[in-house]
Amino acid sequence: MEFSERVGRISESATMAVTAEAGRLKRAGVDVVALGAGEPDFPTPESIKQAAVRAIESNFTRYTAAGGIPELKEAIVAWHAREFGTSYAPSECIATVGGKHAIFNFLAALVDRGTEVILPVPYWVTFFDVINYYGGTPVKVVTKESNAFSLTAEDIESAITDRTKVVVVNSPNNPSGAVVEREEFERILALTASRGIMLLSDECYSHFVYSSKPFSIAAAAGAKPNVAVAGSLSKTFAMTGWRLGYLLGPAELIGNVNKLQSHATSNPTSIAQKAAVEALTGSMDAVYAMLGKYRERREYVVAALNDIPGVRCPQPNGAFYAYPNVSACFGMGGVDSSMDFARKLLSEAHVALVPGEAFGTSQQIRLSYAASMADLREGINRIRSFIAGLT
Ligand SMILES: Cc1ncc(COP(=O)(O)O)c(C=O)c1O
Repeated sequence: MEFSERVGRISESATMAVTAEAGRLKRAGVDVVALGAGEPDFPTPESIKQAAVRAIESNFTRYTAAGGIPELKEAIVAWHAREFGTSYAPSECIATVGGKHAIFNFLAALVDRGTEVILPVPYWVTFFDVINYYGGTPVKVVTKESNAFSLTAEDIESAITDRTKVVVVNSPNNPSGAVVEREEFERILALTASRGIMLLSDECYSHFVYSSKPFSIAAAAGAKPNVAVAGSLSKTFAMTGWRLGYLLGPAELIGNVNKLQSHATSNPTSIAQKAAVEALTGSMDAVYAMLGKYRERREYVVAALNDIPGVRCPQPNGAFYAYPNVSACFGMGGVDSSMDFARKLLSEAHVALVPGEAFGTSQQIRLSYAASMADLREGINRIRSFIAGLT
């Protein structure tokens, strides 16, 4: 069969591939420590689950409007206003099948062949592939490990051309955990807005910050015409499997995304929409309890990784990932890249991590600390022994 050129431009999500391989080994009876998936290990809070049960019992099981029920759009914009001080109207909001879907549709609405999209490196793998899928050009802006991967407006400015239409900022960042501080973010916005470039702010990890308060660039004065927000309930409320995200932006953009969604997926699952209303209108206590746990794990993981000879790990200020540099191990035991490191670690020490190549860097691996302390301790002990055995 001859497949489209478009689909040939992308590959399977590397993070999903690692999860699949770890799952395969587990099913074969191997004791795998899975630190690859970017997924909260906590269950969805009880009140949210109960809202879904009520939705099923009251037969809320039919199609809804493609962009979500009015009650949900109102809940999204009210939550965003409460948490960050923004002022979106429901017409500037669409509910999507996860944050990934919001990003996929946003890029579909803006990217044509040849459109340049500025993408800071390291990047979440999906951005790179989806930009390519639409025929656009990802223009990489490399952030440095020596600077804890912090992104600046100057970095972005040097990459802008007359074909630049979108700048992507994902803060807190997957995979590095770097957070763009408010003033720097405002400088980035001033730069992009002055050139008529759309700033896509991926806020999927907004509430998982360790040395600052959650904020949204969309709350900055005058930001709204030049900003689109991709958000997700997946990480914030431990709802990865429910598939509920959203896009906020100018009504015209939302209208175009709605058009696409009406043909592609129709609505996000009706039951998940009711659960999302409960999540967004209820207490944030469960979210802050998770943040407390991630904070403890981060302290342990970063210190323990830095204690392993051959590993260097900057302090991540957000999300739930550590992004250590393992290049000191290259040239030993047949390991010449992060990919080799991750493959060998999985097959020999049975620890699943994601190689930096998936995120556009060649010396790092990504470790998710959205895992129990027992798994983290075991995983790090195995990494220590694995490295010690590389000669
Ligand atoms: C940076 C970033 N954006 C968006 C998403 C999308 O999450 P979901 O589609 O589960 O809402 C993820 C998930 O890993 C992510 O890491």
